[in-house]
Amino acid sequence: MDGIGREFLEKTKYKYLIMSDQAKNLPQPPLELKAESDKKIIVLPQPKNVDVNIKLVEAMENRRSLRRYSDKPLTLEELSFLLWCTQGVKRISHNVTFRMVPSAGARHAFETYILMNRVDGLSPGLYRYLALDHKLQEVEICEEIADKLVDACLGQTFIKNSAVTFIWVAVAYRMTWRYGERGYRYMFLDAGHVAQNLYLAAEGIGCGTCVIGAYDDDAVNRLLGIDGKEQFAIYLAAVGKKI
Ligand SMILES: Cc1cc2nc3c(=O)[nH]c(=O)nc-3n(C[C@H](O)[C@H](O)[C@H](O)COP(=O)(O)O)c2cc1C
Repeated sequence: MDGIGREFLEKTKYKYLIMSDQAKNLPQPPLELKAESDKKIIVLPQPKNVDVNIKLVEAMENRRSLRRYSDKPLTLEELSFLLWCTQGVKRISHNVTFRMVPSAGARHAFETYILMNRVDGLSPGLYRYLALDHKLQEVEICEEIADKLVDACLGQTFIKNSAVTFIWVAVAYRMTWRYGERGYRYMFLDAGHVAQNLYLAAEGIGCGTCVIGAYDDDAVNRLLGIDGKEQFAIYLAAVGKKI
């Protein structure tokens, strides 16, 4: 019997695609969500000053999903490095960003939220990465948010023990503006590239990560204050220093 998955595959085939908003000459959506004017912005240190002493193949071989972390905090430099490796903007050309990861049509539909548990100099809470400026913005400073995220992720307690947990949010129109319904496929594919870079970058700084696909979509979206349609949580990953 054909379920919703097969229907999705069928209906997102090229033959069913209607004219995209881009083809209709509708304006391209912004490259990034605007920073809030009333929330603190944190300048991140240079990501490239971090010492990475590992060969690429070694990082690939060592990589595994790590769910137990040491109590040691991440430094701001290390966080800066992980953000850079996952969503860092290398250049902008003709109003398109080129980043450390590939993205279908360079649409780069993601925003990165970070649950901050243990990073030197930062209060616990929820933050968002401003990739265009390589800065962080406070979203909500509050310790209880870690427990709420654990609940929203079906009780996966390692999130609370992580130094940080990345929450990638897809801003759907940034992708569907060009690709219509097929764009949904591309967002899920793009998320994999981002997470793999995090796995490898984490290895480079003595950290481990574990991606998270088992979560209550509505609960995570509610926690982030997003509607789950125009913007939705697409993937998460907990990170911490190895024991
Ligand atoms: C799409 C996806 C979703 C995943 N979701 C979770 C999750 O919710 N919780 C978890 O503990 N691990 C999750 N994992 C990690 C896998 O369990 C892990 O990759 C797998 O067991 C293989 O182990 P390895 O990554 O150490 O090689 C997920 C992995 C992927 C690729």
